[in-house]
Amino acid sequence: MKYASISDRLAGLGAAKWEVHYAGQQQARAGVPVIMLSIGEPDLPPPARVIERAIQSLQSGRTRYANGQGELGARLAIAAHLADRSGMPVTPEQVLCTAGTQNGLYTALLTLVEHGDEVLVPDPYYATYEGLVASSGATFVPVQTAPEAAFHLTPAALEAAITPRSRVLLLNSPSNPTGAVLSLAEVDAIGAVCEKHDLWIVSDEVYADLTFSGRFCSPFDRPQLRARTLAVSSISKSHLLPGFRTGWVAASADVVQRLLSVAEAMLFGSQPFLADALAEALTGHHPEVDRFRDSLRGRAEAVVEAFAGCAHTQVRMPEGGMFLMVDVRATGLDGEQFAWRLLEEEHVVVMPGESFGLGAAAGHVRVALTVDQAVLRDACGRIRRLIERLA
Ligand SMILES: Cc1ncc(COP(=O)(O)O)c(C=O)c1O
Repeated sequence: MKYASISDRLAGLGAAKWEVHYAGQQQARAGVPVIMLSIGEPDLPPPARVIERAIQSLQSGRTRYANGQGELGARLAIAAHLADRSGMPVTPEQVLCTAGTQNGLYTALLTLVEHGDEVLVPDPYYATYEGLVASSGATFVPVQTAPEAAFHLTPAALEAAITPRSRVLLLNSPSNPTGAVLSLAEVDAIGAVCEKHDLWIVSDEVYADLTFSGRFCSPFDRPQLRARTLAVSSISKSHLLPGFRTGWVAASADVVQRLLSVAEAMLFGSQPFLADALAEALTGHHPEVDRFRDSLRGRAEAVVEAFAGCAHTQVRMPEGGMFLMVDVRATGLDGEQFAWRLLEEEHVVVMPGESFGLGAAAGHVRVALTVDQAVLRDACGRIRRLIERLA
């Protein structure tokens, strides 16, 4: 029997990146006191009002099929949220509800590219991006950034990577894994390159509400870039609800009609009671959201402090998101080797930088800010000890 080539293209792009994480989980199950800093799962409780709304909706019978594009109430709430953020009008016709950001990105790439096309991705990049691009059949083109430039994408690096086959720039700000947040000036300069070469911009904004310093800026919020931008996000991180699998793609209404054909072939609508919860999440103010962002900021500061004065590494404060990068190049090990030694010798699990691309992330490890400050300080002490032992 024959398989389609998609499963060959995707083979090895999934679980292999997470081997240290799985090994850590196994040790934890066996009773070893392992500190897990490998996964980006919010660790605080989600907004109470959102949970209450989901329960009320379930009890009131909101369990039937939803509108394929997403329930009107949810699309109105998303549109209002984006209009408020950008100061530009957004209508529900410009919104497609998806089963989270990952599903939104998949729908976007399947709609925009295919075999023969190239997708430009700033490197380091989120671990699922290679699989996303490979699913579509397009070619993944990493665009290098540098640790010395805080992993910010530059227009020059983007320009240098463009070929006649380039179709899409897949942006992620705030970035997983680096914590880089693009400024308005950077978005405009990068956007100008996209305009010049007529590229789509797929903007993964899942950490938009978790920006620490400066203001989050999306190409969707820039008048000159909106028509070529697909803004993709969810309430997985901002509202601490990754299990709800509830997100969106916002784009121009004609792009959304194209996306809808793909979405209807794949999912045919989301869950009405979760759409109601999403609308609740995006309407009004939830103190839990602020608390989470503030605790991430405090934890990141604690990590930076824990490495202060270390002769062998420097840790930069992330500008947003749930992660930061620790440079372990002085140990002579790559990120993968360091992560395994750290698990074996210090019982701390971090992600190898190489799981996020072989460019600027190599020789780094990614630390997730998903445990409380005391545990994080303990873990950083152990990471620092191993770096100092090896350097
Ligand atoms: C950059 C990035 N994009 C997308 C996702 C997936 O988000 P969602 O849960 O909304 O599918 C994650 C999750 O870790 C992420 O880090």
